[in-house]
Amino acid sequence: MSTVAVLQGGRSLERQVSLKSGARVEDALQRLGHTAVAIDAGSDLVARLTDAKPDAVFVALHGRDGEDGTIQELLEVLGLPYTGSGVAACIRCWDKVLTKHLLRGVGIPTPDFHAFSETAFRELGAAQALPAIESQLHFPLVVKPAAQGSALGIKFARTATDVPAAIVSAFSYDRKVLLERYVPGRDLAVSIVEQDASPMALPVVEALPEGRDFYDFEARYEIGRTRFVCPAELAAQTAERAQALAVEAYRALGCAGFARVDLMLHEDGELFVLEVNSVPGLTETSLLPQAADAAGIGFDQLVERILAMALARVP
Ligand SMILES: Nc1ncnc2c1ncn2[C@@H]1O[C@H](COP(=O)(O)OP(=O)(O)O)[C@@H](O)[C@H]1O
Ligand SMILES: [Mg+2]
Repeated sequence: MSTVAVLQGGRSLERQVSLKSGARVEDALQRLGHTAVAIDAGSDLVARLTDAKPDAVFVALHGRDGEDGTIQELLEVLGLPYTGSGVAACIRCWDKVLTKHLLRGVGIPTPDFHAFSETAFRELGAAQALPAIESQLHFPLVVKPAAQGSALGIKFARTATDVPAAIVSAFSYDRKVLLERYVPGRDLAVSIVEQDASPMALPVVEALPEGRDFYDFEARYEIGRTRFVCPAELAAQTAERAQALAVEAYRALGCAGFARVDLMLHEDGELFVLEVNSVPGLTETSLLPQAADAAGIGFDQLVERILAMALARVP
């Protein structure tokens, strides 16, 4: 049996979700007979890890620091084995622009896009290129910060007049913004868990908006306004294609352990990868545990498997 530090909380915008993921992981570890040491990731992180002397670290941090490779870098320095993806894969997943370039580079479909830094707007007059971007991507278009999660800072621009405010809003989350072609269709997620060192796609989950205008994006993500269906009601070949694309994306980004790939299924049947989450939610209502459950993998078994992979990768 192992002593496992469960990193959670932190300073990111997803602190509350992370605390829930962490608490649930701790409970599972205890049921499995391990010793779980909860650590809220703050300025005493290194000291607390040094005191705890864990055999492994379970990273249950979402968002900045936990998903962008920062924590992973620290754990490498301390020589502590940890769950999930390594530093480089976290960096690739956290930056949606980098993710999309890498996916496009290996032929994985992702919606067309253009991305700019704040300095391009401030110092190079990038705003004057907006009409050209708009005519290439068409309306509505999606404006999002390169980094962040949980739909933070994402806006749908219906016309050219919506674009500047959407860009300003995205810049409040990150110094780089992504303008992306809108994909009309269904919102899918494929979670991946490795089995015997090869990525295994879990059943597809569909996020369904409850009523309301489908452009009313903010409303969609309010609690209770989205319903999740797993396995998603899809033709077998569509589900298999979504799973295959998710595994390809996971490999292309060099992920390890587990991850969740978000996709859109266009009305015309085409699939597009939006992003890959390197530390997906592990709460009662999170998609990865739901998908694992649908595949007959209970939460404790999931945690044990993720932990075993970390322990097998002792640095
Ligand atoms: N290009 C797009 N076309 C249609 N819907 C999109 C598009 N990009 C994002 N969305 C919607 O916004 C949600 C969140 O976008 P995503 O890129 O996964 O960012 P994050 O989950 O990190 O906030 C998606 O699940 C989808 O519902
Ligand atoms: Mg997403």
